[in-house]
Amino acid sequence: MPNSVAAIEVQHLSVKFPIRGGVFGKVKDFFTAVDDVSFELPQGKILSIVGESGCGKTTLVKSLVGLVPMASGSYSLFGNKVKDGMAGTSRVSDLVQMVFQDPFSSLNPRQTVIEILTAPLCARGVAFDKAEKRARELLERVSLPAGSLQKFPHEFSGGQRQRLCIARSLMLSPKILLCDEVTSALDVSVQAQILHLLDDLRNDLGLSILFISHDMQVVRALSDNVLVMYFGKVVECGEADEVLSHPQNDYTKKLLDCVPVIRG
Ligand SMILES: Nc1ncnc2c1ncn2[C@@H]1O[C@H](COP(=O)(O)OP(=O)(O)OP(=O)(O)O)[C@@H](O)[C@H]1O
Ligand SMILES: [Mg+2]
Repeated sequence: MPNSVAAIEVQHLSVKFPIRGGVFGKVKDFFTAVDDVSFELPQGKILSIVGESGCGKTTLVKSLVGLVPMASGSYSLFGNKVKDGMAGTSRVSDLVQMVFQDPFSSLNPRQTVIEILTAPLCARGVAFDKAEKRARELLERVSLPAGSLQKFPHEFSGGQRQRLCIARSLMLSPKILLCDEVTSALDVSVQAQILHLLDDLRNDLGLSILFISHDMQVVRALSDNVLVMYFGKVVECGEADEVLSHPQNDYTKKLLDCVPVIRG
């Protein structure tokens, strides 16, 4: 049956960071940043992860692409288990790509757009001409002019740079995007453009998206499902309308109460 297998299924995932101390910086203890987290991202859906600063959202998604090691637990991509130590490999990055909060620091300032965009494909042995063709297609897809190819990152606005990051993340035709506060460094009108782009990409390419945000209005508008984290644990997870309109957990209620309401 199509779409019955989750794009990502995470089971009992934990991430621990060492706490060092003493003159020799020995490991004294471990801090559990992600604590026994389980959830599913259905295919073609957007699952938002919300929770206060420091609750482990970024650490969770980083562990899925091998940027931080998992202490325990496992996850599957489209029903295939990602074996221990495989999270950072090309087999995973062919399927899963991450887009970060700050578009400037995630782009090499010394590389032109064409170099930035073609690098992931060329590193996999694809001929430059073919990679360039795909780069042109994706620039058009994210509404950047073809003349951008010879420019450097500093020659773009913040919103254009984030489009560039999204284009780069799509070069390998991934099936899953992990978006970590991709709009929080941007002006409100540009935020809306990027959010529309993500929604279009989900609809047109069938991408499944994990979306981290502090902006509850954005989360409400964009998400199919919402997962609420608190001190590294999942406290509530379900359909966006249900979780945001009828939260069951006290922490979710408090989090939603913090959203400012503008009274006319
Ligand atoms: N490399 C690291 N070494 C040690 N501790 C870390 C490391 N990365 C994150 N942490 C800690 O893990 C916890 C979770 O951090 P994380 O960045 O995942 O939070 P977050 O939910 O993404 O917060 P924010 O909303 O502010 O981005 C924090 O207490 C942080 O200090
Ligand atoms: Mg974060």
